Amino acid sequence: MLERTKQYSKYVDNITIYEGNTLECVPNNQQFNLIVGNPPHWKDVESAASSLGLDIMHHAHILEILVDDNWSAHRDFFKRIKLLLSNNGSVLLQENYAGSSPEDFRQMVDDAGLKINFTADSRMYADKGIYYISVGHK
Ligand SMILES: C[S@@+](CC[C@H](N)C(=O)[O-])C[C@H]1O[C@@H](n2cnc3c(N)ncnc32)[C@H](O)[C@@H]1O
Repeated sequence: MLERTKQYSKYVDNITIYEGNTLECVPNNQQFNLIVGNPPHWKDVESAASSLGLDIMHHAHILEILVDDNWSAHRDFFKRIKLLLSNNGSVLLQENYAGSSPEDFRQMVDDAGLKINFTADSRMYADKGIYYISVGHK
């Protein structure tokens, strides 16, 4: 993914890549107009395993990367991202109806001082339950 982003950046001026596992790699004085993300789509291992028809014991690793325990990383992300978002900027996250609905995120977005601008079903991956959620400043 990072390699593809670097290749793409050859065709676009002024791309800066921050590489890290959390938002801490991004300097606090930076502000962005568009922030995209594809976070884990399930809030617990049981629901991910059930949605995907996987056995918990045999697929522990894959389930681990698909799960954001009780949405803790989402909650933390929304709180931190507010500082990195320009006034009219927006965050676009890819989510999955198999693990959530937009309503699961509304309160945590509000608690972070942000609002949901809109949600939209994926055109290409609607059959897989993919949807998008756009978040911006209140
Ligand atoms: C739906 S996958 C998306 C992978 C990749 N970003 C993409 O779009 O193809 C979710 C990713 O979030 C990562 N992840 C899980 N918990 C995380 C956390 N607390 N902080 C950051 N990333 C996390 C997982 O390892 C997994 O790679």
